[in-house]
Amino acid sequence: MRFLPPNLEDANLIVGMETSDDAGVYRINDEQAIVQSVDFFTPVVDDPYAFGQIAAANALSDIYAMGAKPLTAMNLVSFPVGKLNMDVLAKILQGGSDKIREAGAVLVGGHSIDDPEPKYGLSVTGIVHPDHVLSNAKAKPGDSLVLTKPLGVGIITTGIKRGIVSPEAEAEVIQVMSTLNKAAAEVAIAVGVHAVTDVTGFGLLGHLHEMLEASACSAEVYAEAVPVLDSVWDCIKQKAIPGGTQANRRHLEDKVEFAHDVSEELRIVLHDAITSGGLLLSVPEDRLDSLIKQLEEHRTLAAAVIGKVQKGVPGRIAVFGRA
Ligand code: CO
Repeated sequence: MRFLPPNLEDANLIVGMETSDDAGVYRINDEQAIVQSVDFFTPVVDDPYAFGQIAAANALSDIYAMGAKPLTAMNLVSFPVGKLNMDVLAKILQGGSDKIREAGAVLVGGHSIDDPEPKYGLSVTGIVHPDHVLSNAKAKPGDSLVLTKPLGVGIITTGIKRGIVSPEAEAEVIQVMSTLNKAAAEVAIAVGVHAVTDVTGFGLLGHLHEMLEASACSAEVYAEAVPVLDSVWDCIKQKAIPGGTQANRRHLEDKVEFAHDVSEELRIVLHDAITSGGLLLSVPEDRLDSLIKQLEEHRTLAAAVIGKVQKGVPGRIAVFGRA
């Protein structure tokens, strides 16, 4: 998160706020570090059970992005008591609880407040060996960039709110958002990657920019190689573009350079502010084939090579139509 006060010095703090990483990591002893993250938001879809699943998968994702195993979770709940049926809340919590169980973690408590607008999410604590933390700060020139879920979720959920998305496309986007990044993280750990982050609110290019800045590298991205959900194009045609997506594009204007052959639609998608996106992995060339093979074996929603890390101005991204 940006605009935070600087952290107090602590020798056991392995990952703090300086590198805009996905979660904080704190060493307990030579073998164990705890990984902590918190995230909650307003409903992205109407179905309360699906919303619960998505919010939980999204919160758990930051733990996976650090190469950690989620251990415990706590519910964060805002709910308009007396205005919405309590069955709705029960379904949200059931969705969350099912995802926590799928992750192999355990729900240990939570906190709820009466609030006009419902919100749900989790604080999650995970565990990792201090020497095996995956951060966003160790990408190296020559690495390939691999993405494990398709893009377009922010645009499509905006389309759903406008009633222009088919029930099939809605089911597909719910499926994408509620899929855990567990398998992708396990493969990344087994193969050995240099850096990881998950793609969420700042969009693919925003999170890549943070990774590159933290790693003091630049990168090129091949827009046509990026996996994208089919129903995106129709939503863009009908101007269903989230405010966050447009803000991301303005924010990165002087950091991203697009080649002429990158379509306007793809430029929007690459900036799309999404919920519960995939992992973005920076993998050394000699491990790329084995990474892709194992991601495919584990049936991650995508296993696409979308660019390359390079030497150059830290944080800069050049986007080409194709490699
Ligand atoms: Co994250």
